[in-house]
Amino acid sequence: MTGNAGRFFASALIYAVLGMMLGLFMGMTQDHSQMPTHAHFVLIGWVTFAIYGFFYHAFPSAAVNRLANAHFWMAEISLVVLLAGLFAIFGGKPDLGEPFAAIGSIGILLSMILFAFIAWPIVRS
Ligand code: HEM
Ligand code: HEM
Repeated sequence: MTGNAGRFFASALIYAVLGMMLGLFMGMTQDHSQMPTHAHFVLIGWVTFAIYGFFYHAFPSAAVNRLANAHFWMAEISLVVLLAGLFAIFGGKPDLGEPFAAIGSIGILLSMILFAFIAWPIVRS
C-alpha cells in the first residue's frame, strides 16, 4: 500500500488498537459511559478508514490527487476533533465537548461527501 491508501490503513490500525483498549477499559471498570466514544472510535476510525484505505489501494488513480489528500486530512482531523468532543461529553463535560463534537461531526460528514464525489465516477464507470 502506498500514499493515501497506506496512510488511511495505518491510521485505521491505530484507531483499532486505541478503540479496543477503550472497550477493554470499559469492560474492566464496568463503566460503559464512554460507549458512544468507543463505538465511533472503532466504526469510523477502524472500519470506515480501513475501507477508505482499501478503496484507494484498489483504485490507485483515485488516490494520487489533491482531492484525495484533502479527503485524508479532513477525515483524520475531523475524527480526532469528534472523538475529543465525545470524550468530554460522556466524561461529564458536555458544555466543553459539544462544540468539538458538532464541528467534528460536520467534518466527518463533509469528508464522506468528498469521498462519494471521488468514488462515484469510478464505481459507475
Ligand atoms: C478488544 C475489543 C473490544 C472490547 C473489549 C469492546 C468492549 C465493548 C464494551 C464493554 C461495550 C459496551 C457494551 C454495553 O454497554 O452494552 C462495547 C460496545 C460497542 N462496541 Fe465494542 N469492544 C471491542 C471491540 C469492538 C469493535 C472491533 C467494534 C466494531 C468494529 C466494536 C463496536 C462496538 C459498538 C458499536 C458498541 C455499541 C453497542 C450498542 O450500541 O449497544 N467494539 N464494546
Ligand atoms: C457524522 C458522523 C456521525 C455522527 C454525527 C453520529 C452521531 C451519533 C449519535 C448522536 C449517536 C447516539 C449516541 C447515544 O445515543 O448516546 C450515534 C450512535 C451510533 N453511531 Fe454514530 N454518528 C456518526 C457516524 C457514524 C458512523 C460512520 C457509524 C458506523 C460506521 C456510526 C455508528 C453508530 C453506532 C453503532 C451507534 C450506537 C452506539 C451507541 O449506542 O453508543 N456512527 N451516532
